[in-house]
Amino acid sequence: MLKRMLFLPLLSGILTAIPVWGLEENRGELGQRLFESTALGATGKSCASCHPGGKGLQETGSYDDGQLREMINFCIRDALKGKPLTTGSQELEALYAYVRSLAAGRK
Ligand code: HEC
Repeated sequence: MLKRMLFLPLLSGILTAIPVWGLEENRGELGQRLFESTALGATGKSCASCHPGGKGLQETGSYDDGQLREMINFCIRDALKGKPLTTGSQELEALYAYVRSLAAGRK
């Protein structure tokens, strides 16, 4: 009985840790894929066409989280002629995290 009581929390700990780790792992990949995707807009371009390697994004460190998300959607709408991403969506969050990492020179 005691053994089982110890085993269950351990097992549930492992089971909850795996998806969280998987999600973190995928977010960077999703962010990069979106940044390089021409499917976000209607011009045949991607973010990377105009911001290769994070060009033009170096100064975004001074933007707060909301401002940076707005700028990303601004570029999707105006530069790519696409549909802005929904606030809080996995796509916007992944793109946001990727732009932050580019601006910080971590990519
Ligand atoms: C057609 C070219 C073009 C495309 C495509 C484009 N951008 Fe931009 N982006 C610009 C220009 C031009 C600016 C304005 C730079 C400035 O402030 O002078 C800008 C500004 C930004 C800024 C704010 C930078 C700053 O310092 O103010 C962010 C963030 C940004 N873009 C992200 C993106 C993302 C993410 C994508 C893809 C969804 C994207 N851009 C697609 C041209 C483009």
